[in-house]
Amino acid sequence: MGVDLTTTLGPVTLRSPLIAASGTVGSIVDAAGTIDFRPYGAAVAKSVSAEPWPGRPAPRLVPVGVGMLNAVGIQNPGIEAWTRLVGPALGDLPVPVWGSAVGHTPEEFARVAAGLTSTGVEAVEINLSCPNLEDGTPWALDPHAAGTVVAAVRAATELPLGAKLSPDAADVVAVARACLDAGADWLVLTNTARGAVLDPATGRPRLSAPTGGYSGPPLKPLSLRCVLEVHRALPEAPLVGVGGVVGASDVLEYLRAGASAVGLGTIHFAEPRAARRIHRELLRLWSGR
Ligand SMILES: Cc1cc2nc3c(=O)[nH]c(=O)nc-3n(C[C@H](O)[C@H](O)[C@H](O)COP(=O)(O)O)c2cc1C
Repeated sequence: MGVDLTTTLGPVTLRSPLIAASGTVGSIVDAAGTIDFRPYGAAVAKSVSAEPWPGRPAPRLVPVGVGMLNAVGIQNPGIEAWTRLVGPALGDLPVPVWGSAVGHTPEEFARVAAGLTSTGVEAVEINLSCPNLEDGTPWALDPHAAGTVVAAVRAATELPLGAKLSPDAADVVAVARACLDAGADWLVLTNTARGAVLDPATGRPRLSAPTGGYSGPPLKPLSLRCVLEVHRALPEAPLVGVGGVVGASDVLEYLRAGASAVGLGTIHFAEPRAARRIHRELLRLWSGR
């Protein structure tokens, strides 16, 4: 009999614990030619906002050590164009697609969630790493603010909801608890960590912004620590571990820490078909457990 990698995440059953992380596989529709989506249990589309966001100018991606710093600025066409351009193609993809909502106010998040729901996505991930309009603090750093966004999205859609948190939160457990109390079905741990890189000759940032989001292998201990802390405090909470996965042993580590599913992100830039390799490795490790 074959090894079964089926897993559950709150109300959702996934055929595989591997998830394509938001922003690293484009709109999914445009990546379908290069990426084989069959090894994934779900693929998360790039975050969408209520109005179009132009993103930041180049340079937007800089390798730093074995990780990567990005300042993409969540460039996206806005929910109205997204539902027209991307939505109709989702049903043809060989993977369940989750939408990802981002915004500057809870109302914006709610508008996006309603739009995503109309396209037939199977779940909505709430990207809480962007700044709120009032004081520029990322939602994910403040339990109350994060809960307010999740509650607004919960009222706008009946779809399963994941709240994506930041490793930069002073108390990630408090943010996790607030999101679950407000109606999130699972937590995604984590988005990128805030970082910076300068040109030593000029002292100027090597990105078009002073800071960016750090991802890849150096992020893994931070995200894994968040999974461990949240799982210890809230053992019933369904968790997705994301950060620095390059092989099946990283996936196993997240599963051992308490995650039910695991995201692949930056690895897609070096190896677009990494999920096929990791899925194969995982089957081997799983059967030898
Ligand atoms: C270029 C780039 C763009 C990203 N865009 C988004 C995004 O739009 N929404 C989001 O929730 N996360 C976004 N992320 C974060 C990833 O989904 C993931 O959480 C993070 O990169 C950590 O995983 P990794 O180390 O495997 O890359 C982006 C990451 C990168 C590298």
